[in-house]
Parts: sequence; C-alpha cells; structure tokens
Amino acid sequence: MHLRDGAILQSVLPATTMHFGRALIMPNLVPPVVKATDAVAYRQRIIAALPVESAFAPLMTLYLTEATDPGDVAAAAESGLITAVKLYPAGATTNSDSGVKDLNKVSAVLERMAEIGLPLCVHGEVTDADIDIFDREAIFIDRVLEPLRQRLPQLRVVMEHVTTKDGIDYVRTGGDNIAATLTTHHLMINRNHMLVGGIRPHYYCLPIVKRASHQRALRDAAVSGEKCFFLGTDSAPHLDGAKESACGCAGVFNAPNALSCLAHVFEEENALHHLEAFASLNGPAFYRLPANTQTVTLEKVPGAIAFDGKLETPDGSVTVFDPAVDLHWRVKEA
Ligand code: DOR
Repeated sequence: MHLRDGAILQSVLPATTMHFGRALIMPNLVPPVVKATDAVAYRQRIIAALPVESAFAPLMTLYLTEATDPGDVAAAAESGLITAVKLYPAGATTNSDSGVKDLNKVSAVLERMAEIGLPLCVHGEVTDADIDIFDREAIFIDRVLEPLRQRLPQLRVVMEHVTTKDGIDYVRTGGDNIAATLTTHHLMINRNHMLVGGIRPHYYCLPIVKRASHQRALRDAAVSGEKCFFLGTDSAPHLDGAKESACGCAGVFNAPNALSCLAHVFEEENALHHLEAFASLNGPAFYRLPANTQTVTLEKVPGAIAFDGKLETPDGSVTVFDPAVDLHWRVKEA
C-alpha cells in the first residue's frame, strides 16, 4: 500500500492501517525511497505518525533505479530493513519517472537479489506510446517479464496488482518463484464501472481496470485459495483535487473498507473459507515471514454498513473507494 509522506501521511495513516497488522510500503515518494538510508528515514516518519496504540509494522521496500547499488540492497535485506525491491518501468505510473528504462542496467542488482532470495515487486506494464493502455500488462509479460525470468529463474517475483487473465494464467503456471497480488478494487469493478454513464475519476488507477472477463479471472484466482495469489490493496490516496481534474492521477484509496469489500466478494463467490488464506496467509508464506498471530474478526450486519466517503486532510479531502454496492461485513471492534 501507499502511505505517502508529510501531511497526507499523517492524515491517512490511521484509516489506512487500522485493519492491518503490516503491509509492504510502496517507495514511490517524491523523491523516491532509493537507498537504505532513505528507507530508514521513511520508516521512522511512518512509525512517528502511527497512533500510539497501533502495532502496525511497515515492511519497507526500495525503489529500483538504474543507479541502485547491489551492495546497498543486499545490506538492507540482510539487516531486515527491507522486504522487497520495487520495479517501476519509467513512466508507467504515479511518481515512476526515476524508474527503470533499460533492464540491462539493473542486471547486477537483480542477480544479487536472485542469489539472496529477495523478492522483486513488479509494476508489470510496458510504457511504449504505441501500445494500447489496456494491453500493457499482457505485453509486459511477453516482452519483459518472461525473458527476465528465463535469464534469472531464481529471481523471486511478485506481479503487483495483476489485472488481466493473461497475468493470472502466467503466474498460475509460473512455478514457485512467482506470485501475484490482487487489489480489492480490481476484484469489484471493471472498466464499465469506470466509464459507463460518465467518467469516474476515483476508479482510475494503474494498471487500468479491464473488461469484465478479466475481472472474472481475477475473482476466480483470488477465491481459489491458491498460494500464488494474495491481497495487495495498492491503496493509493490522492487529494480529490488531483483526481477530479482534466488530467486526473491514478490511484484508489481503498484501505479503510478493503476487508469489508473482500468479505463481500468472497461471500458472493461462496468462498469465505479461503478469505484468510488470501488476505493473511499466502502473502507472508511467499515472503517467508511468519503468519501474524493477531487476528481480526469480520461480522455480517443486517443493514448496509455506513460508508464514510471522504477523509479530510489539511490539504483537502481524499475519497475512499466506493464499491457501488451495499456492504454488510465489518471488522468487529476489538
Ligand atoms: O493507480 C496507481 N496508483 N497505481 C500505481 O501503480 C501507483 C499508485 C500511486 O502511487 O498513486
């Protein structure tokens, strides 16, 4: 998930982390979290902003650039400071300008990561101007990911926020060194929700939501219980002014109601018995972390739960993901 920095970090942190014991923290700040020293400082700012009673553990990541030093990454992993490194193809999404243009320039880092078993989290989209935005994930698999994995089969890869049947099929058949995260919003909406009857900027994210047949494949994967699929909310707060604009930015702020949405989806798919694996067990297993010992309990209430549509920050409001259906599941107060 994305926590951001500064005033917005302070404002979104309690609502973002209240239902989660830990999460992988995305490094696409301005400037990005590139070196171990950046991750140390960012982690401290997150911890300082947490409510006193919160036991939330931020799992830090580094933002891969063509100047990343393999020694710095290896030392950060060895010390337990970082849990993964994130690959943003340059220009693929929000704050990705410092990302990777030429994968050959990061070979030494990737080889070192393969050696030490440090996962690479991937924003899996090509950025070529001539490739249709709806095809960018599928083409990334063919042109970038598969050749990379052929070259470095030991590299452990997480395809973040996978959005297509192509991505699901690729991961499902890809062996033990690949997994995929699925967001709550990609399970609940498809491109019709975003575009029919008017354009809904709060559903705009990257990779962009696809057609319903892809959404179907994502739902099937999420509820299957298969170990290679797990939750990654990609909760990404932006001020409403930046979303509701002639050129709105990508990102869906879904953490506050993510568990309610997931329970809704899993119930619809008659798969509540696989919800815990998806949300709490498969992820840590891939990351070779112990499962959390604390639990949350979801309860179903007769009426629709109240929907808090906006969170106020000193700089303006941030809109919470609206799943466009009534939700009946909520996290029980401890
Ligand atoms: O929609 C997105 N928003 N996708 C990403 O990959 C980044 C994120 C953000 O940082 O806002």
